[in-house]
Amino acid sequence: MAIRRGPAASYAAPPNIALVKYWGIRDPELGLPYNSSLSVTLDRLRSRTTVRFDPALDADEVELNGAPATGGPRDGVVRFLDRVRALAGRDERAHVRSENNFPTASGLASSASGFAALAGAATRAAGLALSHRALSQLARLGSGSASRSIFGGFVEWRAGVRPDGRDCYARSVYPARHWPALVDLVVLVRGAPTKEVRSKDAMQQTVRTSPEYRRRLREVPGRLRRLRAAIGARDPARFFPLVMEECDSFRLVCETTVPSLDYLTATSRAVLAEVTAINRAAGRPVAAYTHDAGAHVHVFTLLRDLPTVRRRLAAIGGVERTLVVRPGPGAGPIRGSAR
Ligand code: DP6
Repeated sequence: MAIRRGPAASYAAPPNIALVKYWGIRDPELGLPYNSSLSVTLDRLRSRTTVRFDPALDADEVELNGAPATGGPRDGVVRFLDRVRALAGRDERAHVRSENNFPTASGLASSASGFAALAGAATRAAGLALSHRALSQLARLGSGSASRSIFGGFVEWRAGVRPDGRDCYARSVYPARHWPALVDLVVLVRGAPTKEVRSKDAMQQTVRTSPEYRRRLREVPGRLRRLRAAIGARDPARFFPLVMEECDSFRLVCETTVPSLDYLTATSRAVLAEVTAINRAAGRPVAAYTHDAGAHVHVFTLLRDLPTVRRRLAAIGGVERTLVVRPGPGAGPIRGSAR
């Protein structure tokens, strides 16, 4: 029988920013979280990944942003391909090429967009046709937050309660066009350190050592419900304070982890303080800050307040640049690729 190379398949996926953070894993093998999380999928920014299985290869070839991947990033891709091979009952190695249209080191959640795009491209290249839900459950095994990047708009990733994880999946709760006035001003700070410890490891340190973690777990379900309601009503007066309350809760459990996890720089802290000052001066919530396990800050505001908020934040020393993004569509195949 002739050995044939498989078809190439390409998939694009966006990053997302969590409004309610995923932080803590109850089952590391299945990637099941302790708490449900809620995020906004971002427009404009994309990871684009092409996968082709090739019987002539004796090892996976992985190229990330134009350079051969090595070490941890390569191992993560190979482990993920192993799962896809097991699912598809195939054993050929693969060529993987992935590019971000934003700087990887910028801290804009490239693992979320990267593993969502890899899940789509690798399953298609292997001849599997998964539902969005199944794709999101698979992407989760590469990076937890990738499960949310499959979907567009406002996305909830349900933690579920079943030990087998069948009720643990992400889904869109409001479409991208639901709240047209809402914008995310991404504030990129100069000299943001690159992450030394992967979030999936850092969060387990928090689970083990932070005295604040249990309280956070008790509070999160109520906060998530209130945030969903605020988004549903497009109500900035409820939405902005809740986004900041959640970010502060996430930061507190990080800071009280032993050894302490401090993701912010002095500039990031100045951005948080300036958002608080803007809200105080306006006498109403005009904007909300949030950040993930990195130094850049996402500031949500409404279109009408964007020019003022942007001017104030861009003027802070140490802010490299600001980028305006909006809720956007989820992941999908790139036309011209297989199937
Ligand atoms: C703070 O497991 O998705 O962004 O270890 O880099 O793959 P990696 O990250 P992941 O953890 C994300 C944690 C978070 C919060 C969130 O996105 O919900």
